[in-house]
Amino acid sequence: MIKLTVNGHEHELETEPDTPLLYVLRDELALSGAKFGCGLGQCGACTVMLDGKAVFSCLTPLLLAAGKNVTTVEGLGTLEAPGPLQRAFIEEQAAQCGYCIAGMMMRAQALLVKNSSPTDAEIRAAMEPNLCRCGTHMRILRAIKRAAALIKTADA
Ligand code: FES
Ligand code: FES
Repeated sequence: MIKLTVNGHEHELETEPDTPLLYVLRDELALSGAKFGCGLGQCGACTVMLDGKAVFSCLTPLLLAAGKNVTTVEGLGTLEAPGPLQRAFIEEQAAQCGYCIAGMMMRAQALLVKNSSPTDAEIRAAMEPNLCRCGTHMRILRAIKRAAALIKTADA
C-alpha cells in the first residue's frame, strides 16, 4: 500500500511501486491535466509539483512520490474559481492547442513559489525544460509575469 497526497487529498494505492506517477494520476485518480507527451523527460507536458519542486511525472516512479505532496494543475484552482496562474494564462490567451499548458503552469508555479518577481531571463531559464510545439512561448512568458502581478496584488 502506497500513500500519496494529491492536491491536499490523501490516497492509498495498491499499485506497482515503479508505475510512473503520470499513469497513476491519469488512470487511477482521474486527474487528466498532466499529459503524456514523450515519456522520456524531454517535453514537460507531464510536469507536476512534488513537495514544491517541478518534476517530470512520466519519469517519477510512484514510490518516489510516496508520502509527499503532489500538486497538479487541478490543484491550482477550479473552473468557477481559477487561480492566478490559470487566470493569467486565459487573459494572455497563452494556449493554442493547449497540450503543453498544464505542464507549463506547474513549472511556472514552482518558479513563483520560490521567486515571486522573476525577471524575463529567470522565467526563460526556469521554463527551459518545457516545450510548446505551437510556439506560444512569448504569450506564456507574459502570462507568468501577469500571474506574478496578480499574486502580488492579492497579497497586498
Ligand atoms: Fe514527461 Fe514528456 S511526457 S517529459
Ligand atoms: Fe500547443 Fe503548447 S499550446 S503545444
